[in-house]
Amino acid sequence: VPDYGDVDREREKQAAAEAAAVLVRDGMRVGLGSGTTTEDLLPALARRRLSIRCVAAAPHIEREARELGLIVDPFDSVDHLDIAIDGADKIADDGWLIKGGGAAHTREKIVAAAAGEFVVIADSTKCVPALAPPVPLELLRFGLPATMRHLGSVTIRDVPPSPDGGVIADYRGDVADPAALSAWLSSVPGVVAHGLFPPDMVTLVLIGRGETVEQRRFQPARG
Ligand code: 5RP
Repeated sequence: VPDYGDVDREREKQAAAEAAAVLVRDGMRVGLGSGTTTEDLLPALARRRLSIRCVAAAPHIEREARELGLIVDPFDSVDHLDIAIDGADKIADDGWLIKGGGAAHTREKIVAAAAGEFVVIADSTKCVPALAPPVPLELLRFGLPATMRHLGSVTIRDVPPSPDGGVIADYRGDVADPAALSAWLSSVPGVVAHGLFPPDMVTLVLIGRGETVEQRRFQPARG
């Protein structure tokens, strides 16, 4: 069994991030996710010196991107992005993702859904044959105990609220049927967003694996 030490993982994340940066072309509107792999994307993107405008799913990514010279607009004046690039916590063979390890999945999902292409970047440790709990949730503070009672297997995460004031939690129940779980979680009043991302949202997954970058295509670009 290969030993994926921190150095190997970091190299794989960087390779995936650099491969994604190459997909960005002059004039594009680019959605930036969050997490350490997205942080590797920022310098790779800045080095290309393209004429692009970005939006960011997290305030610290917005800050870091600006520090590197990238233009970041608020996401209240743009209704379409050409490409969004983001990391993931788990990538199943069938293209389902779990995101939100960094508690930013609500905004990340809005950014991904607005983009013609959603490109996921990750090291090889993120690949799993099938998803497993937990699934990150963002919950409204209003009625929180009632929402938690409805959800059953859920724990509040000991992290600050989201930038939108939501409470970050983790669903710990069965994840065997992600489509059914996704529909059910979306139907529970008080759930702002969950961290299950369906394959029909994902254009391309770039996985750093050893010295190479593996590409898995799930959907054609949405234009
Ligand atoms: C944050 C996310 C991240 O994309 C996910 O947690 C992966 O992070 P990293 O690139 O640090 O492994 O979903 O909400």
